[in-house]
Amino acid sequence: MKLEVRNLSKTYRTAGRELKVLRNINFSLKEGEWLTVIGRSGSGKTTLLKCIAGLLSVDEGSIIRYDHWSIQDGKEEELQAFRRENLGFIYQDYQLFDQFRCELNVMLPLLPFEKKENVREKARSLLEKVHLSDRLEHFPHQLSGGEKQRVAIARALINDPKLLICDEPTGNLDERSRDEIIELLLKLNNEGTSIIFVTHDRDLMKLGQQTLQLKESMISNYLQ
Ligand SMILES: Nc1ncnc2c1ncn2[C@@H]1O[C@H](COP(=O)(O)OP(=O)(O)OP(=O)(O)O)[C@@H](O)[C@H]1O
Ligand SMILES: [Mg+2]
Repeated sequence: MKLEVRNLSKTYRTAGRELKVLRNINFSLKEGEWLTVIGRSGSGKTTLLKCIAGLLSVDEGSIIRYDHWSIQDGKEEELQAFRRENLGFIYQDYQLFDQFRCELNVMLPLLPFEKKENVREKARSLLEKVHLSDRLEHFPHQLSGGEKQRVAIARALINDPKLLICDEPTGNLDERSRDEIIELLLKLNNEGTSIIFVTHDRDLMKLGQQTLQLKESMISNYLQ
């Protein structure tokens, strides 16, 4: 699945004020490529990721196209189905459901659509990969920050996404856990999963074939 982003702009409107966060972003990502996105806090990295996933509306004239399908033209139900089938999203703030245990949080995206036992088995195997097999019954508030982050990673992988969108997925991890997660992401990438990866971590900025640097409320640069 190829992703093409053309003239992507995003303006937030709050209390009669306009804040243009993204201005004419252009890039394309071939199947199996890894794009690293960097930029200072507030430069629009999370906004960019949410636009790409169709979670935020974009300004007129912006194009976000997966193969031959432009998501701006899709209805909400189509978008939801598209995300469920193709995308994994690791949120910067995890977005776990506080009322559900760890295992159920990972199962949730697929639960209404596939056999429960299969989804449970998959969730367990993913939680094992992120070394949380002994936390299946914990609620999010009973987990450390890094553990929550790893649950969020496991959940993003439950549907075998073609494109994995990662918003600072190692921001809360110690070096060893970070390296293990990066190893997991690199393995997925080697197996053909495309990755968009936001990071502030200098050690990780060199990962991937492309780097996109966002500047605060300015035209973004496109670096190779
Ligand atoms: N829903 C919103 N309404 C209005 N302004 C917003 C909204 N969400 C974000 N912003 C503003 O847009 C700018 C970009 O936010 P964004 O979260 O994309 O930054 P970021 O690059 O991900 O930062 P960080 O590195 O701190 O996560 C910020 O200045 C923020 O205040
Ligand atoms: Mg952010």
